[in-house]
Amino acid sequence: MRKKIVAGNWKMNNDLSQTQDLLASLKTQVIPEDVSVMVGPSFTNLYQAFQSLKDHPIEVIAQNMHQSSEGAYTGEVSAPMLRSVGITTVILGHSERRAYFNENDALLAEKVNTALDNDMKVIFCFGEELDERKANNHFNIVKSQLEKGLFHISKEHWSNIVLAYEPVWAIGTGETASPEQAQEMHSFVRKTIASEYTSQIAENVSILYGGSVKPNNAAEIFGKEDVDGGLIGGAALDAQSFMAIVNGFG
Ligand code: G3P
Repeated sequence: MRKKIVAGNWKMNNDLSQTQDLLASLKTQVIPEDVSVMVGPSFTNLYQAFQSLKDHPIEVIAQNMHQSSEGAYTGEVSAPMLRSVGITTVILGHSERRAYFNENDALLAEKVNTALDNDMKVIFCFGEELDERKANNHFNIVKSQLEKGLFHISKEHWSNIVLAYEPVWAIGTGETASPEQAQEMHSFVRKTIASEYTSQIAENVSILYGGSVKPNNAAEIFGKEDVDGGLIGGAALDAQSFMAIVNGFG
């Protein structure tokens, strides 16, 4: 049975005080037992968040990590450092990392290997640009991102993988993909995994949708057969909105 997951990607938002306030609000909420709920603060707030949610069902995750486990990489954070503050899940391949920080497929493949070598779970993001969709090239783009960034891993490692389809044109724009568009791509990704690996791996991997998920559209998107939850940006910064999305599975 695939896990239902709703993860909040806080991006570069919330100082320590704002993090404490948002976590305090979330801790008053009832978390559905059949949904894995995650929050992703910035590096500076991870330990505080981990401590605050230690005995709570919400998991704290990281938004990124370096491909090396130690060394002279000023300003970077390693997988062992993340594990040392209780973090065991990391988002990799987000379109903002790919666009603003030149994280190409080869580098992401390295990061995936380092995360798995450190026994971390990975939320692997992928998705097409608007011009690629308009050119009807979106399936090729997504397949290439998966093949070059992820399809080198062993069958055994798929238990540590969550996928997140995030059409770039839907991120932060209010232009949410339609439930049908999300389902179509998720189904394509699942079939691609089945042909590259096994149908069992394809059936068991959770595929999240991300890109302007809001309380008023979450239920319809999450209701699609191959959508197993969401990776949430803006709406994750408000406890009520985030929980409305978490409860969107109905
Ligand atoms: O990683 C999730 C994020 O990219 C989606 O952002 O604000 O469109 O929900 P948003």
